[in-house]
Amino acid sequence: MAAKDTARATPTHVAVIMDGNGRWARQRGSHRLAGHKRGAERAREVVEACPDLGIDYMTLYAFSTENWKRSTREVLGLMSLFGRYIRREADRLADEGVRMRIIGDRTRIDPKLQRLFSWIESRTRHNDRLHLQVAINYGGRNEITRATRRVAEAVARGELAPDAIDEATIAAHLDTAGLPDPDLVIRTSGETRISNYLLWQCAYAEYEFTDTLWPDFTAEKLDEIVTRFRQRERRFGAVS
Ligand code: IPE
Ligand code: IPE
Ligand code: MG
Repeated sequence: MAAKDTARATPTHVAVIMDGNGRWARQRGSHRLAGHKRGAERAREVVEACPDLGIDYMTLYAFSTENWKRSTREVLGLMSLFGRYIRREADRLADEGVRMRIIGDRTRIDPKLQRLFSWIESRTRHNDRLHLQVAINYGGRNEITRATRRVAEAVARGELAPDAIDEATIAAHLDTAGLPDPDLVIRTSGETRISNYLLWQCAYAEYEFTDTLWPDFTAEKLDEIVTRFRQRERRFGAVS
């Protein structure tokens, strides 16, 4: 498999908007939760494929700050799926050298699930073969707002001068502090919007939209997208 030293680099960080679980279930006459369950299995397969594709960081959008608008049944079903995923995958993630982090606003998450988040983060904190971020109760605007509040608190304590605030200061207060920005964002299911995902971090990401519903997404499809990414010329505002 092509490595980092090929003519055009592999994306170091891939962010995925895993969309289409509900439609996948409806096509089969099943409940939406059946789609989420299959979606979680796909997430496992895609995560496993990352190291061989040269991807060091993967960030998966699992639940947005807007997803609370769904039925109680669906919200609770998703939350219990997250708990089950963490418990079931813990050993495998540890064995495969995956470091897992949860990003998003935890204050609205059930305390039991919050403890599970801390547990898996602590259990995998020494791993570095793949950095896996799962975004739960995540919204880009919410994240930037929380970061701004923390920066303002540092100013109020006299630890930070307002004119010392630069882009690095903001980045260091985001949930993704210390992580490289995504090079590539993939959204499944044919929708072509960002839905409040990683708004700050994706300022210069490349985007790929695929009609495939997330429960049908495979490691092969990820490979195809990464191959296409390598053909792109990233100019970052400069002239080639
Ligand atoms: C994405 O699938 C998963 C979550 C948002 C939790 P959807 O549940 O949005 O599936 P569709 O878009 O209704 O098909
Ligand atoms: C985005 O999908 C959020 C996740 C994949 C977790 P949605 O299905 O919630 O987004 P919209 O409603 O189509 O924008
Ligand atoms: Mg959707």
